[in-house]
Amino acid sequence: MNTVAARLAPFGTTIFTEMTRLAQRHNAVNLAQGFPDFDGPEFVKDAAIDAIRAGRSQYARMFGDPALNAALAQRWRSLTGQAIDPDTQITITSGCTEAIAATMLGVINPGERVVMFEPYYDSYRATAAMAGAEPRFVTLRPPADLRAGQVTNSPFWFDMGELERAMAGARAILVNTPHNPTGHVYSRDELERIAFLCAKHNVLAITDEVYEDLTYGHEHVRLATLPGMAERTITLSSLGKTFSLTGWKIGWAITTPELTRGVRAAHQFLTFATATPLQIGAIAAIEQGGDYISSLQVQFRQRREFLATTLASLGFGVVMPRGTYFIMADHTEVARSMGVVGDVEFCRELPARVGVAAIPPSVFYDHPENGRSLARFAFCKKQETLEEAARRLRAIASVPHA
Ligand SMILES: Cc1ncc(COP(=O)(O)O)c(C=O)c1O
Repeated sequence: MNTVAARLAPFGTTIFTEMTRLAQRHNAVNLAQGFPDFDGPEFVKDAAIDAIRAGRSQYARMFGDPALNAALAQRWRSLTGQAIDPDTQITITSGCTEAIAATMLGVINPGERVVMFEPYYDSYRATAAMAGAEPRFVTLRPPADLRAGQVTNSPFWFDMGELERAMAGARAILVNTPHNPTGHVYSRDELERIAFLCAKHNVLAITDEVYEDLTYGHEHVRLATLPGMAERTITLSSLGKTFSLTGWKIGWAITTPELTRGVRAAHQFLTFATATPLQIGAIAAIEQGGDYISSLQVQFRQRREFLATTLASLGFGVVMPRGTYFIMADHTEVARSMGVVGDVEFCRELPARVGVAAIPPSVFYDHPENGRSLARFAFCKKQETLEEAARRLRAIASVPHA
């Protein structure tokens, strides 16, 4: 008997579940799934706990607690200079994951093309399938100077011709910046080119900006701030990455009143509303979170450097991420010394043989061969966790590198 509907059967169990299970079985240091092994800020937790004690436990307003919508409108204005209406332009969702699903289901018609970059966050493809949309992929490629045993500061890149061909006839493009898993922060030039093509071909832009506060010396440009783009962009984000509260699942979609109607058409039947006390906690985070964000950036920057240099010293070829808390590294030489080939085999072997878990990124490509030489490591961990991972990883370093 087929127990999984045909539209979702091809997606199986997510790789995060599989790798986390493997990590648990082998008591491995889990650098696979992107969640911190430390807690979020006390003042945010206190605000949510106070809300529970104050009896704020019934359904929230469908599109968000009024004070959270207002706080996000205020934040948007200070970040972008754009004044938006909190009640008709912001929808609070259960994490960015729901915002992605609500946007796909509420705005895209079956058969319409959605352009996305590969490697992609895995829910993009699955929600496109749920919406009956046709995904079309543009590949983000590693820099040409990526070498075993070295860290390169050159960015991932994509072919503009490939993008132009994909955009003609598309309904929407989904841009994730800063980008998981590559750590790429789309440059202003790249986004201007995307904006030009959106206008030329009348394409909507959906942006996933959940790592917007995690960039390291590179400007995060919001596509919605480029000329002509506010009218055609749906900006999605969430609280989880910025405030180390990934389990809270408070997200949002910011866009025009017209596009908001589409997002809400789906949101009202997906979850209807999001956990009330956690929305109250989110208000504290949004309004008073500046210092927390600054200190998190400093810590993550140090950990990024630590993990990048450690991986390079072990023979990985490392692309220094410009944002997010992930590092993409070419594992070819290291895998060879372990006698394995390909990212899936490498990441399946790593927990058992070394006691560290990573993610094989080929599962995030329409053309898996483009990701087969890479592995994704998360550095959103305590320094001591990363040091323990480094100690364990040294066991596989049979080839010395400069
Ligand atoms: C690119 C990207 N988008 C969305 C999400 C999900 O965000 P949330 O936890 O807010 O649903 C993640 C989480 O890993 C992500 O990496």
